[in-house]
Formats: sequence, structure tokens, C-alpha cells
Amino acid sequence: MSSAKLIINNQEINLPIISGTEDEKGIDITQLRKQTGHITYDPGYANTGSCASKITFIDGEKGILRYRGYPIENLAGKVKFTDVSYLLLYGELPNKEVKSIFSKKLRQHANIHEDMKRFFDGFPLNAHPMATLSSMVTALSAFSPDASENDDEAINDTMIKILAKVKTIAAYSYRKYRGLPFIYPNPDLNYVENFLHMMFSDSQEDFHADPILVDALDLLLILHADHEQNCSTSTVRMAGSSLSNIFGAVSSGISALWGPLHGGANQAVLEMLKKIKEDNGDYKKYIKLAKSKDSTFRLMGFGHRVYKNYDPRAKLIKAVADNVLSKLNINDPLLDIAKELELAALEDEYFIARRLYPNVDFYSGIIYRAMGIPTNMFTVMFALGRLPGWLAHWNEMIHSEDFRINRPRQIYQGSTKR
Ligand code: CMC
Repeated sequence: MSSAKLIINNQEINLPIISGTEDEKGIDITQLRKQTGHITYDPGYANTGSCASKITFIDGEKGILRYRGYPIENLAGKVKFTDVSYLLLYGELPNKEVKSIFSKKLRQHANIHEDMKRFFDGFPLNAHPMATLSSMVTALSAFSPDASENDDEAINDTMIKILAKVKTIAAYSYRKYRGLPFIYPNPDLNYVENFLHMMFSDSQEDFHADPILVDALDLLLILHADHEQNCSTSTVRMAGSSLSNIFGAVSSGISALWGPLHGGANQAVLEMLKKIKEDNGDYKKYIKLAKSKDSTFRLMGFGHRVYKNYDPRAKLIKAVADNVLSKLNINDPLLDIAKELELAALEDEYFIARRLYPNVDFYSGIIYRAMGIPTNMFTVMFALGRLPGWLAHWNEMIHSEDFRINRPRQIYQGSTKR
């Protein structure tokens, strides 16, 4: 095994280097404090590998994203979101028989307890659907007494129930926000159709989703399904590492996702594009603002901690946005503004030097908008997509050989004893 040599004040130690299957290298510092009394300092964890994982591989330099070895380009539009969920959870794509069992379970568990629906009454009408979603996912734990059992079968059942029920809660968060009655899931519909049915049907008439939109939404969910140790997934792992229940861990992930630097960026992008439109389409003004050191404004939907190349998800989503809008004959001026903004940013020295490209959130909102999904639901859509990733990581963590409670250190810089 190769190692790295570290010299601190004449003390020399060897730190083992571990490799991943894609030849990624990491310096194993697990013995560092014990041997030297030092810890590492890495705000924002940009250089810290918090775990070993077999779920998702990203090469940010080359713009590669693979789930369990499959490039997202080979999954998106070719298999269903539920297949990808299965893949992330169990490591393989389901065969026909497994697929039908998995899908049956998802349909069986789509309803939430009738008593849970009364919880929604406590939220104000204008509650942000992300607030409702995260609270209701925690509340789910109260209705799932078996979830505290930790044999693998019970864990598995719980993960499937969460997958099945969160989309119902997500749709009800929207219904609550609009003051509309809740619609029961329809067991004859697939995952995405069911979600759209619960969002848009009314008591008089069932909503029949356009297959173009069903396919587009399925694809969007696939592209959001996992992204290794991003902020919300790391939050799920962090919360889950205290052996808190899975519902609480997922709910923590939802809260982390909500921020505009993470999943909340999709809402922020659309609000930014609307603002530019109201400003006579003057996107150059916003690029200038994003570059200014005197302003805190950032070009939303641009930049990424890991990708220093075009985000492969953004590439696919941009193509879907074009396709959906043209097939549905929608002329959305916000798409034109987004394209002009992207072009100008990609030619600008500031963005080139910092290797800032459009990310997953830049074009997704344009598609949600074409589906009639309101802007404040965009991050809920991201959460629905990311859910199988969160569950897969939580499950991998609690089964991992080197499982320990997550507990980072710090460099104390406050007052000394007084
Ligand atoms: N607009 C303008 N400047 C930017 C932007 C941006 N969107 N993103 C990064 N920069 C600049 C930043 O000011 C810094 O410049 P300097 O070196 O002169 O100080 C440099 O680029 C490096 O940025 P950073 O803040 O050190 O990068 P980070 O890895 O800590 O942050 C990020 C990554 C995604 C939070 C950031 O790029 C950002 O705020 N983007 C806008 C919000 C966004 O779209 N978030 C969604 C991320 S993708 C989906 C997801 O993960 O949920």
C-alpha cells in the first residue's frame, strides 16, 4: 500500500493512501490525531472524504456522473425513475419480476394514514411546501412503529414505504398551499402519473397527464436521484449516524436541500429569470452584478463544488426543456433569457477563470413551469428525485464496517480561560 509522509516538528509519520475503483486517491488520516495530536482543517469539507461509498461516481473535471457504474446518459429516458431508485438502493437494475414486485409495493404503500392528513390543517395556507414536506416526513415516523426495528427486512420495508409516501406528502403539500382537497393515490397509475394525479386531479375530474410531461418528469427525477456526498446527503448521513430514525434523517436532508446554494437554487433561478424579464431582459446587468465584489448576488444555477466542467445533468435537462416546450408549443420567454444568460456567462472571463457552468438547477424550472408546477414547489420536486439517493446512503452507512457517529473536530479560536 502506498503512503504519504507527513513531517510535523521533526516528527515523521506515514499515512496510508487508499484508492477507489476509479483510482481516486485519499490520504487516510484516521490515526493522525492519535499519533500527532493534530487534526486537519478543511472548512466546507472541500478536501474531505467522509466515507467510502459504492453508490455514485462523479468526475467533476470530465463531467461524468454514474449511478452504480451506469452513466446517467444511459439511464435517463431509457429506464424509469423507480428502476433507478431500485438500482441505487440495491445495486442492480431490477429484472421484470423484481420490478413488478417493487412497483406493487410502491403502489400499496402510497396512502398516508388518515390521521396524518389532519396535521396539514395546522399549517397556514401560504406555508412553503418544503416546510410542510420536512415536517410531515418527521411526522411519518410516529405512524411507523416498526421502523425502529433494525433487522434488514424491516429496514427495507421502511425505505419502500418512505419512497411511496413522500410523493403523496409532496403532492398534498401543494394541495394544502392551494387550499384544495386531497386526492387519494390511484393504484392503477405508475409513480410519476400518480404524483401528477394527486397534484392536479379534482373531485370532479381526473387529471390525465400528457405522456410528454410524464416522461420529462420521470427523466428529471432520475437526473436528481443521487449525487454522492452533497450537502443534503451528507446531512442525512450525519443525522442518521446518531442512529436517529430514518424519517428524521431524511427530514434533515430535506431541510438542508431547501437552501438556495443547494436544491433551493431551482426556485431562485426562476425568480432570477423573472426579474430579468421584468428588467426588460437586461441579463448583462445581472452578470455584472454576479461578478461584482461589492454585491452578494450570484448567478443562480451556475457553479458547482465538484463540477469544473459542464454539469452532465444540465446538458440533458436543457435538451429536455427545448423538446418539451416545442412539443407542447409553448413559447416561454424565460427559456430565451436563460439561453442568452448562459451564452454570455460562458464567454465571460470571470466565469471562464472560475470554471463556472450551468448546473442541474439552471434549466429544470423551465420544465416544471411548463407542467404547471408553481415555483415554490420546485425544491420539493428536487427532494422527490433525491429521495432514493438519501435512502441508499443512509442504508449504506448503517451497514458499513467503519460505521461511527459523525463527529467532526474544530480549531477553537475563542477566549482562553477567564
Ligand atoms: N455566480 C458568481 N460567482 C460565483 C458563482 C455564481 N453562481 N459560483 C461561484 N462563484 C465564484 C465565487 O464568488 C468565487 O469567486 P472568488 O474566487 O473570486 O472568490 C469562486 O467562484 C468559487 O466559488 P466558491 O463559493 O468557493 O464555490 P463553492 O464550491 O464553495 O460553491 C456553489 C459552490 C454551488 C454553492 C456556488 O457555485 C453557488 O453559490 N452557485 C449558485 C447557487 C447554485 O446554483 N446552487 C446549486 C448547486 S448545483 C445543485 C445542488 O447541489 O443542489
